[in-house]
Amino acid sequence: MKNRCKNIYITTPIYYVNDIAHIGHAYTTIIADMLTRYSKIVGYDTFFLTGTDEHGLKIAQSAQQKNKTAQEYSDIVSAKFKQLWDDFDISYDKFIRTTDKEHKIGAQKAFMVMFKNGDIYKGNYEGNYCVGCETFFTNSQLIDGEGCPDCERPTNIVKEESYFFRLSKYQDKLLELYENNPEFILPKAKAKEIINFVKSGLNDLSISRTSFSWGVALPSEMNESQHVMYVWLDALMNYLTAIGYGNDEKNIKYWPANTHIVGKDILKFHSIFWPAFLMSLDMPLPKHICAHGWWTKDGEKMSKSKGNVVNPQDIANKYGLDELRYFLLREVPFGQDGDFSKRALVNRINSDLANDLGNLLNRVQGMSGKYFNYKLDSKNVIKYHEQEIKIAHDIIANLENYIFSMQINRYLEDIWTIITLANKSIAQYEPWDLMKNGDTTKAMAVVALVANLVAKIALLIDCVMPHKTKQISKSLGIKIDAKTYESIITDKLLIDKFHISKIEQLFPKIDETFDIQSKIEKNIPAIKTTNTMQEQNLVSVDDFFNSIIRVGQIVFVDDIKKSDKLYRLLIDIGENKPRQIVAGIKTYYKKEELLDTQVCLVSNLKPVKLMGILSEGMILASKDESGLSLIRPEKQKKPGTKIS
Ligand code: ME8
Ligand code: MG
Repeated sequence: MKNRCKNIYITTPIYYVNDIAHIGHAYTTIIADMLTRYSKIVGYDTFFLTGTDEHGLKIAQSAQQKNKTAQEYSDIVSAKFKQLWDDFDISYDKFIRTTDKEHKIGAQKAFMVMFKNGDIYKGNYEGNYCVGCETFFTNSQLIDGEGCPDCERPTNIVKEESYFFRLSKYQDKLLELYENNPEFILPKAKAKEIINFVKSGLNDLSISRTSFSWGVALPSEMNESQHVMYVWLDALMNYLTAIGYGNDEKNIKYWPANTHIVGKDILKFHSIFWPAFLMSLDMPLPKHICAHGWWTKDGEKMSKSKGNVVNPQDIANKYGLDELRYFLLREVPFGQDGDFSKRALVNRINSDLANDLGNLLNRVQGMSGKYFNYKLDSKNVIKYHEQEIKIAHDIIANLENYIFSMQINRYLEDIWTIITLANKSIAQYEPWDLMKNGDTTKAMAVVALVANLVAKIALLIDCVMPHKTKQISKSLGIKIDAKTYESIITDKLLIDKFHISKIEQLFPKIDETFDIQSKIEKNIPAIKTTNTMQEQNLVSVDDFFNSIIRVGQIVFVDDIKKSDKLYRLLIDIGENKPRQIVAGIKTYYKKEELLDTQVCLVSNLKPVKLMGILSEGMILASKDESGLSLIRPEKQKKPGTKIS
């Protein structure tokens, strides 16, 4: 991976200036920012483009309603988008506006090239147009003969002279493209719909309008002063003009784009029109069009009229920008829809961030301070903890695949298994005990192991939470940059020595309860609010049922060599082979108290190895001062019966 010189070009859609940004726009931009930061720290030469889409009838009409010229109106709203991305520290390399002079020149040049290549001809358009979606539809596509199939609003009939792009000519080439490049559209599941659409036949596309003037003029060579470009032709060209197409070409080396991030609403434009335009221009095609899902609020589409728009700035101010980034990237698998809920956000913050990661850093600070005057030395880490380091590196080795196949939530999930490993190592090796027994060398090895794992984690999550990782960097006394990434992630080295500093809490817990009471329950103190509950991390029923718990019959019990705490159990849960479980119950149960009895078993846990033995589940137990007791069904149940 050394000396990567590969160019990576990442884009967001350019957003319409008819409205201000909401959580959906922030989501797209944060995904692109994360990919960009990842590519940069890994060492790729990366260019990140975002911007605003300012032409077309929709914008012209919005401006009119506000008594502004379209240009004045675009200036105001475009500046708001830019300000938001600046406040969010989005690491874009260029913010393009389609009203930029260079963009218009580039778009006109592209039009001429397509025209000269015989792909543009003059005709008459008669059909239906949705101004909200800036899209043409055939009669058969409309809902009840009138409604837009995408947004359901009424369409208008348009009848005017128009230039057309020979989209139909590219039908077979597009199908070939999808066939030969199964990762052109990601997630792959989304490709089917597009392929079917193309297979059903493509009409030539109307690419100019004469009934209004707010758009890029056709090239002067065309001698058509009445015509402006169709806004989607103008808009898609931004990806080329932003890097100098038709102008100063100094950044054209970034073409073809690696990743166009878009919402599923505009996948069709990006995966059908865009490659067809590029084929006509004889330009190479982008590698991936990645379409994410839709955020709703309380199950409904966000809209101003419903008053349910989630403002990303408000959320970031209240809960933290990096926390919001983590939540958006972690909560919903890329491509799927999600419902925005503060409760889910607070759960993520309190459990994944405060409990898992924040607490881990706290422990490094605490133990290094208490035992070693904040100075750690890694020289014995490999000697005592080669296995833990290897597990972490095995996980890390697979992470890049997740990134470029857009499985960002899995990227984070896997990093969180390293966090768990680090927390577990502390519990397992008990440095406080080692210190008590005078085994300073081993205690140092444990704490240094954990500090190294935190350092690796920080480098890996820098793209997701770049501000929090600055704090981690300060606490560990290490740099978080491409050079450190190369040495401790790519080359798998350790940080030789740490000088730890105490910093303020990384993720303060959020003490916010969500009122789930109904009005009738108001006077019943016991269930008045979630305040009275012990639990912070409430989960939904669906979350709970992510874990499958079954009744199992213990059919075999055995000791594990060198362990006085663990048993190896074989448990029948109705599968064709009993499950092997390693359980720390030896000090509480004799073998005969277990054999042929029933227990409850979480049966869909990822298998783990304990003392070198594979454990394929977890049995449920409860422990207090008086000891441990297994949770068993009150009456015998058939092995494998589900618990709910
Ligand atoms: O379509 N959930 O601009 P646009 C998730 N100008 N993402 C959402 C969302 C939601 N509820 N709402 C919006 C345009 N988005 C064109 C693009 S590109 C050459 C031209 C995000 O302002 C998502 O990325 O309508 C969606 O594709 C985009 O905003 C649409 O922004
Ligand atoms: Mg839209």
